[in-house]
Formats: sequence, structure tokens, C-alpha cells
Amino acid sequence: QVAAASGHTVVLVDQSDEILKKSTKGIEESLKRVTKKKFADKPEAGAEFIEKTLKNLTTSTDAVAVVHSTDLVIEAIVENQEVKNELFKRLDKFAPEHTIFASNTSSLQITQLANSTTRQDRFGGLHFFNPVPMMKLVEVIKTPMTSQKTFESLVDFSKAVGKSPVSCKDTPGFIVNRLLVPYMMEAVRLFERGDASKEDIDVAMKLGAGYPMGPFELLDYVGLDTSKYIIDGWHSLEPNNPLFAPSPLLNKLVEEKKLGKKTGEGFYKYK
Ligand code: 3HC
Repeated sequence: QVAAASGHTVVLVDQSDEILKKSTKGIEESLKRVTKKKFADKPEAGAEFIEKTLKNLTTSTDAVAVVHSTDLVIEAIVENQEVKNELFKRLDKFAPEHTIFASNTSSLQITQLANSTTRQDRFGGLHFFNPVPMMKLVEVIKTPMTSQKTFESLVDFSKAVGKSPVSCKDTPGFIVNRLLVPYMMEAVRLFERGDASKEDIDVAMKLGAGYPMGPFELLDYVGLDTSKYIIDGWHSLEPNNPLFAPSPLLNKLVEEKKLGKKTGEGFYKYK
């Protein structure tokens, strides 16, 4: 959405037409929200902006067919190392020489993903934040093998889509998730111990620390499955780090398919 809105030609690739239909609808709705604010006094210019953005955006279920004519691939599939590696390995065979590969992974090592390809110098991390149209940050990750030219292209691309890039080495969680995920897990542990209710913890962090959402609201927003993938991955890397300890309550909710806002229930219920 943000790439198309800033004039880039985008092909959104996913597993089925049904998912793509849902995604396109989500983008249209989000564009309306952005436009309402951006073109408050100029509804005609707003309608033109939406039309132009949607013209820049097509969809496909065939990643290999699309990658033949792609300059930049931004992968944002399931947070699973093997599945991501398999995709990158396949795309690497069909992508043009100059094409840069980037992953939006929340928690996996970019180096390990890059190693599934033959273009380690043209591989980096581009980590966006939910909701992407609103959050101004992008973390740009340079592995020891990423070339300076690739890094600069990723920084330039981030600026071209209207974001503010920061850079970080290829360490677990980069900057934001390395601080945010242990904080959210600490909130779950506080609640699990019965020290405070989840509602009071959320109110406390909003009114006492000025956060726009409390930790339970944010966990539901990010998705409990994604949060579990992140913490389980880090726990397997550092089993003795108490900040990365899994939570029985989080595991139980994921097992019950209560994944947060997207499924209608997580820590809270949504209509
Ligand atoms: N698309 C377009 N616009 C959107 C939007 C979307 N998806 N979501 C919200 N907005 C707009 C609304 O239209 C509204 O615009 P307005 O000011 O003109 O009315 C504005 O954002 C504010 O929205 P709301 O009034 O509905 O609610 P809030 O004031 O609470 O703002 C929020 C919503 C921007 C999501 C804010 O609550 C927030 O910043 N929350 C924290 C988000 C956060 O921490 N994100 C990081 C998560 S970690 C992550 O993503 C990393 C990953 O790897 C896990």
C-alpha cells in the first residue's frame, strides 16, 4: 500500500485469490482512512490519489512469474525459517541479477535467510511496523555480507515510501522488537502471577507511560501467533534468558486459535 501510494509499481503476491481479495479490500479501506486525513478539504484530489494508488497495484499467486521483472522483493510470509528459505531459494533462481531481496521478518536472522540464496550481497532486512500506513519507522538491516550499495538502496527506498529509516545489525529483534517483545511478555507474566488485571496493566501503560496502546491491546493487535513465533524462536536460541521465557497463557490462547484482533478474540474479545 505505501509503496503503491508513493508511485511504485507493486505486485502483491499471496497463496490464494481469496486472500488477495481480502488484502485488496483491506488496502482500499486503509487508503480511505489515509485520504480522509490527507485530502480533508479536497475530496476530488483524494479520489484521484486512491485511483492512482490502486492502478499501481496488481496481484498474483505466482511469485516465480512475477519475480522475472522485479527490482525489489519484500518478503512478509509466515515467520518460519524453513518456509522463508524455501521461498527465497526458489525466487533466487528466477530473479534478475540486480534484484534485491529483503525480508520483513520480526525475529529471524537475515543472514540465515540470505544464505539460502546466491545473492548475499543483494540481501537485507526491511522491517515495517503495524499499522504500516501510520507507523513512520523502518528498520534497515545490513548483514556482514550486504553490500553498501544494497544497504543504501534499501535506505533510499524506505525514504521514497515516506518512512524514516534506522539501521541495526543483524541481531535478534533488531531495535524495536528486542525492547518491545520482552516488555509485552513481562506484562503477561505480571498478569499470570495475578499481580494486576490485564485491563489495569493496559490503562497503566497508556496513562502512566504515554503508550498509545497497552501491552495486551498491542499483543492482540500484532497477533498472538506472531508473538509466540518470536518468543519461541528466541527461547530456542537462548534457553536461559528469562526475558525470552515462553508464557503458558500465551501458548494456551494460541492453541485455542485465539490469535487476537484478526480472529475476533485474544486477550480481549472483538466484535
Ligand atoms: N490504515 C490507515 N490509517 C489508519 C490505520 C490503518 N491501518 N490504523 C489507524 N489509522 C488511522 C486512523 O484512521 C486515525 O486517523 P485520524 O487521526 O484521521 O482519525 C488514526 O490512525 C488514529 O487511529 P484511531 O483513532 O483508530 O486509534 P489510535 O489513536 O489509537 O491510533 C494506532 C491507532 C496508530 C494504531 C495507535 O494506537 C498506535 O500507534 N498504536 C501502537 C502501534 C504499535 O506499537 N505498533 C508497533 C507494533 S510492533 C510491530 O509491528 C513489529 C512486528 O514485527 C511485530
